[in-house]
Amino acid sequence: MPALMSSFATAWKPVSRAANPRHARTSRSNPRVNARVYDSVLDTIGETPVVKLQRMAPDGIDMYAKLEYFNPLSSVKDRLALSIVLEAEAAGLIKPGDTIVEATSGNTGIAVAMVAAARGYKCVITMAEPFSVERRKVMRMLGAKVIVTPKAGKGTGMVRKAEELCEEHGWFLCSQFETDANARFHASTTGPEILRDFAGKRLDYWVTGYGTGGTYAGAGKVLKVARPETKIILAEPEAAGLIASGIEQERNGRSHAVSHPAFTPHPIQGWTPDFIPYVLSEGLDANLHDELVPVTAEEAISTASRLAAEEGIFTGISGGATVAVALKTAAKAEKGSVILAMCPDTSERYLSTPLYATIEADMNEEELEIAKSTPSYQLLPGEDPVLAA
Ligand SMILES: Cc1ncc(COP(=O)(O)O)c(C=O)c1O
Repeated sequence: MPALMSSFATAWKPVSRAANPRHARTSRSNPRVNARVYDSVLDTIGETPVVKLQRMAPDGIDMYAKLEYFNPLSSVKDRLALSIVLEAEAAGLIKPGDTIVEATSGNTGIAVAMVAAARGYKCVITMAEPFSVERRKVMRMLGAKVIVTPKAGKGTGMVRKAEELCEEHGWFLCSQFETDANARFHASTTGPEILRDFAGKRLDYWVTGYGTGGTYAGAGKVLKVARPETKIILAEPEAAGLIASGIEQERNGRSHAVSHPAFTPHPIQGWTPDFIPYVLSEGLDANLHDELVPVTAEEAISTASRLAAEEGIFTGISGGATVAVALKTAAKAEKGSVILAMCPDTSERYLSTPLYATIEADMNEEELEIAKSTPSYQLLPGEDPVLAA
């Protein structure tokens, strides 16, 4: 843990693996026996489980998913939000009662709002119009103000709005795309968690996508040094092949100057904004990945759906995208290979998105047949409800 984090009274303390009840949950013992009381919800961030795919992996390949939706606000971004706020406090940039601001497609805003609530800050989030409405509601539930920016302004618009608000009101901007606190936290938590979970075991491939690039740059750096034999596979939406294009990002200092020319909108929320973030570029400059693999929205959505229905792994579109790329990797890997894919957030955050387009609220034909197969309590379309037969 970075020294600065241990310097305050109520600083975040990592929970040891043995004491973390999450790991007890995966055992067959009664999880309540190992129940533990936390000082703060922030103490439950990280230490996410790694789960083996039981049905989707091809024969002879072991596939695992690291489930970041086990974080308290159900995404990998809880790590980033905690890191930014703790580092800013330690540097004397913020004190409780101040306002913290971020531009976000959702998960970061939810995480920042949670950390703000837990540590006594006000929170303002800017968010572009197309992102799912339930995310806005969750942030407001956590006490944040959500400022919605026009769709035409893309990701850049919401970032510019956040910067402008901070300049005008003297608020603190989290700068998830530029801050060193982002990859640093993944280097001190996510990466070491993977090393520990695969200590003494094979790990041939680690698959991740990128939003800010914090997971890739931070955990990737640690894996590269400690497990040089592990191939790092970086996934990118086919519709937004920013890295694949080879075109450099124009910057003003750490922030981006213009939208990247290779960007077109894609539904893999949380992944690949319309620019190459500075945090990501540091990982790219260090040549962390061995392969860059494109993935389509259809592959992402169908794989997220399969993970839910066939494995009970309830991850969002980006988790589906990462596992889709892990499956492509598995298809050409030698027998006996071990693959780990990151699942950044929960499926539940996507109820109003294309992920749920084919999921109906009403009963389908098959369900109606089941309903009719016994006489009582039938609710059939166009017919009077039947109670007891
Ligand atoms: C849903 C989702 N998937 C993936 C990511 C990628 O994480 P990172 O920002 O560490 O690259 C994010 C974060 O932006 C996210 O919200």
